[in-house]
Amino acid sequence: MIENRKDEHLRIAATSNVEEGSSLFDEVQLIHNALPEMDFDDVEPGTTIFSKRLSFPFIIGALTGGTETAERVNATLAKAAEELNVGMYVGSQRVAIMKPETAGSFKVVKENAPSALKIANLGAPQVSRLSDRELIDWVNEAVDMINADAVAIHLNPAQELFQPEGEPWFKGVLSKLKLIRRVTNRPLIVKEVGNGISMEVARVLADIPPDAIDVAGLGGTSFIKIESIRRGDTTEADVFRNWGIPTLLSICEVSSVYDGLIFASGGVRNGLDGAKAIAVGADAFSMSRPMLLSALKGYDSVKETINKVMWEFKAAMFLTGSRKVSDLKKAPVVASLPILLWLIQRGVRCKLTMSIYDTLKPIASVLISNLINE
Ligand SMILES: Cc1cc2nc3c(=O)[nH]c(=O)nc-3n(C[C@H](O)[C@H](O)[C@H](O)COP(=O)(O)O)c2cc1C
Repeated sequence: MIENRKDEHLRIAATSNVEEGSSLFDEVQLIHNALPEMDFDDVEPGTTIFSKRLSFPFIIGALTGGTETAERVNATLAKAAEELNVGMYVGSQRVAIMKPETAGSFKVVKENAPSALKIANLGAPQVSRLSDRELIDWVNEAVDMINADAVAIHLNPAQELFQPEGEPWFKGVLSKLKLIRRVTNRPLIVKEVGNGISMEVARVLADIPPDAIDVAGLGGTSFIKIESIRRGDTTEADVFRNWGIPTLLSICEVSSVYDGLIFASGGVRNGLDGAKAIAVGADAFSMSRPMLLSALKGYDSVKETINKVMWEFKAAMFLTGSRKVSDLKKAPVVASLPILLWLIQRGVRCKLTMSIYDTLKPIASVLISNLINE
């Protein structure tokens, strides 16, 4: 039963070690500014996403819905999103569309967060099997259920593959995404669930194009691991332990080919990770499992977690001399050799590689003209 699966996801994510790989935020460094020429109180971390003003560029990640525990988690997170003025995704709403008696576990989000940025959520494999008419109805129902400001569709081929009752159906997803883009008047977000988005996929998506791509890269929650624990056999999950594109690299890859908003998630674990994500090309960041762990402890814990992440984010802004989020986007940042090797091998033209390409260009042109003249 789909509701049992939702509760198993929550239980396993809360009680087992389900984080794999590295998001690689530790491999980049923001450059310290000893002369920020402002007071800490002058830092303005607010930002606007889809016409909603957020106190800082933070969105509570997609988690759950469909059960009693999920309802409590959603209500707790929504209350905090409203009070602290941050965004919030809900988990996949298929369960509530197929079993309307469970829709209350999502509706609590609009009841507790009437003015917060709210993001509806459906899975790509499920929408791929709907007729166009059914798809439009599903999207409208998901939006109305939480009074959503945007719609997210998650791409999760690895999760579906490892899930005991998985549906690895990805044929036709692109045309369904194009249809959603055409018929809905809400912004469209395409997200992964922890294995990242490559520049090749971002290039294909750019043809739709979604209003935002949430990279949900490798380095945090692993659904390969969660589903293997559910299956009772983690040997294959061990083989695929590092499968995916680390979040930091996924941001760089996507930013090199896609002009829309980029959300960073997957192993973002503090405000400094979030600041680094913004400095390398993201517009907002999101955390899922840490928010689940806090929500299960209660409302005060959720507030404490978000306030801590906000302070860390503001501290990184102050220490890079960034008064606004737009300044942080321009802040200098350096990366370690493994990061650069990946980006150069992949031919990624992003903030981290631009200075290298700019340095090499005159040298390369001298070499080429020498060769031609020989
Ligand atoms: C218990 C749990 C349930 C999740 N359910 C969904 C979901 O329904 N839809 C979705 O798009 N992502 C879902 N995710 C994936 C997260 O949104 C996120 O992409 C992933 O967990 C990586 O972020 P993290 O490392 O901060 O947890 C879920 C994550 C967890 C931990």
